[in-house]
Amino acid sequence: MTGVTLSKAVKKYGDVQVIHNIDLQIEDGEFCVFVGPSGCGKSTLLRMIAGLEETTNGQINIGSRDVTHMDPSERGVAMVFQTYALYPHMSVEENMGFGLKMNGHPRAEIKEKVAEASRILQLDQYLSRKPKALSGGQRQRVAIGRAIVRGPEVFLFDEPLSNLDAELRVDMRVEIARLHKEIGATMIYVTHDQVEAMTLADKIVVLRAGHVEQVGSPMELYQNPDNKFVAGFIGSPAMNFLDGIVSEGGVTVAALGGRRIETDVALPDEDNPVIVGLRPQHLRVAEGGSDIALDLRERLGGVSYDYLATATGEKIIVETRGDEAIAEGTAVTVDFDDPSAYFFDAKTEARLR
Ligand SMILES: Nc1ncnc2c1ncn2[C@@H]1O[C@H](COP(=O)(O)OP(=O)(O)O)[C@@H](O)[C@H]1O
Ligand SMILES: [Mg+2]
Repeated sequence: MTGVTLSKAVKKYGDVQVIHNIDLQIEDGEFCVFVGPSGCGKSTLLRMIAGLEETTNGQINIGSRDVTHMDPSERGVAMVFQTYALYPHMSVEENMGFGLKMNGHPRAEIKEKVAEASRILQLDQYLSRKPKALSGGQRQRVAIGRAIVRGPEVFLFDEPLSNLDAELRVDMRVEIARLHKEIGATMIYVTHDQVEAMTLADKIVVLRAGHVEQVGSPMELYQNPDNKFVAGFIGSPAMNFLDGIVSEGGVTVAALGGRRIETDVALPDEDNPVIVGLRPQHLRVAEGGSDIALDLRERLGGVSYDYLATATGEKIIVETRGDEAIAEGTAVTVDFDDPSAYFFDAKTEARLR
């Protein structure tokens, strides 16, 4: 068993605590993604697992071994970084085999392991090339190959695709998913990109300011967020948030011309504020009305995004399919099915259920 377990993991730099009591269970063979905004502690947490950062308090286990204070080389992990850090004077083959060579592995074994990694990553035709004769995507594959040849129990990736252009990023995302299927090792992957998290993960860990906000499968987080932060972070375009007021057992939304939403969730007392969450995919626009203007329509081909401005000064994004043409500047109404609305506490931002 080579899952990874964090128990009350804490990281402090001097007096500044950047990781707060994190408990987390990553299963053997699982693809786990740490996601959150820049500076939330993703890299720090990954580097604590790798042993590149000292863990201030708490415990880290890989399989049944307590690795909390072990040397990185003893942990059975291999890390892939955003910058590939290949040796420029070495060929692809030498770059991939270098770590094993330094550790004194026999030449024949190195050749076999490099050949296997090269097959998995489809690098066979590039083995004798130097890094400068490779594209960014190919270089990143070599960096991943360097990790594979070490035969780690756990792969750690820190934003490995951030230096690639958008198209290559999608290709590499698919390759990494395929790699995980083929070798089946436990993988922990850090990204600030929720699309990468959604598409790659078995389990997503949403971090904010060194705290875990929620852990779950991509669809669990999308459909059942615990709070406004997770609801707004997962899903693209992001969930719309509007001010609501509790009235007569439902919620009234001023931005939608006083639209009432009936709901079964446990709401605060009458006249108290709540935050209403509406996914762009759940909204429909139609011509007519007076309170809401269609500011801009972005056409992406299969879908369009309508950017609406309400009389209350709030913004709404609606995802539409098909090609009904409402002109920009037109007054519109917005509708949705009441059960698709989410509600959050106006102060704590916790989900109301
Ligand atoms: N060596 C360090 N000394 C002090 N603070 C640090 C150090 N490294 C990271 N931090 C702080 O820890 C927090 C988390 O950083 P990091 O893990 O790199 O975030 P992320 O990878 O999510 O962008 C940030 O606020 C950062 O400024
Ligand atoms: Mg980082």
